[in-house]
Amino acid sequence: MKTHPVTQFNPDPWYHEMRNHHPVYYDPDFRFFFGAQGGWLLFAYEDVKQALNDYETYSCEYIPVTENDLLSASIFTMNPPRHKKMRAIVSKAFSLSMVSQMEQWMYNVCHSLIMPFIGDGRMEFVRDFAAGLPNLVMARLIGIPDNYGEKVSQWSKTLTGDPAVLGMDAHYNTMAEMSSFLSQLIQERSLQPQEDLITNLLHAEIDGEKLTITEILAFCVTLLGAGTETSEGWLSIAMYMFSRYPAIQQHLQAVPADIPKALAEVLRLRSPAIGLARIVIRDIQLQGQKIKKGDLVNLFLNAANLDPA
Ligand code: HEM
Repeated sequence: MKTHPVTQFNPDPWYHEMRNHHPVYYDPDFRFFFGAQGGWLLFAYEDVKQALNDYETYSCEYIPVTENDLLSASIFTMNPPRHKKMRAIVSKAFSLSMVSQMEQWMYNVCHSLIMPFIGDGRMEFVRDFAAGLPNLVMARLIGIPDNYGEKVSQWSKTLTGDPAVLGMDAHYNTMAEMSSFLSQLIQERSLQPQEDLITNLLHAEIDGEKLTITEILAFCVTLLGAGTETSEGWLSIAMYMFSRYPAIQQHLQAVPADIPKALAEVLRLRSPAIGLARIVIRDIQLQGQKIKKGDLVNLFLNAANLDPA
């Protein structure tokens, strides 16, 4: 296989080459975010879509269940029917009205992050806006006090960082630290309810079933990982794209109603969620390759979303 210099800014040539010549490729060195090494890489839209829709072959339960990794008890790594039930419980807790109550506060936070730079007419967007905003919002949503923004940022960076660089100890230590901090918060909310997600999660139930404390912890940890780095990446990539295409920027200034469509297109062109993991739970053949029960798979969303076919 010919290798290309792959940079984070321009992985597209590599995606195209892999999709065209090695759409299903085994990489023994590939590192998954939860520490596992070696897996099949899928690049074609049809294959990725099929994998995402077929949990009876490509299971979401890919993280070995251990006490020290809460992500193994997360909605993220759960198959139906348990997933459907969990989703219903947390949807109750994660109500639209709770989110819309935060709207004015979020607007004020955006305003306060931008205002110091208005006079200069320039800012370091990633550092001064994109990195800070999601941490503040996710912390507030969950019920973590605002002054823990820096801590939340450290946690989410470690949880979503490359284990080959950070080491798995950092991952587990962070998980333990978050777990102890959030357990304390859950305890406080059970005694003194507040208007936040933890309180709602403590009370939400479906068919008489409530979440266990481990499930609440796992959900909060998942949210911090799922909502912070992704949103930071999305905001940053969007700003990068708009700065590269001034005509689009001008159009969006003139027609703000098109901003949601533009942001969706940014997600298609370069999602911050680069890859999704699954574990194959029966032997299969795909594009002439034999994938065995128990093999891990990484679905390259960005390669799939750029598939000309
Ligand atoms: C641009 C920003 C975001 C992107 C690109 C993104 C991407 C994704 C993707 C691809 C999945 C599916 C994972 C899988 O099937 O393995 C997912 C699931 C999830 N995300 Fe996000 N996400 C973003 C923002 C957020 C935010 C802000 C939150 C919380 C407020 C959030 C919470 C979740 C949760 C709870 C799940 C699991 C849902 C389930 O299994 O039913 N995400 N996200």
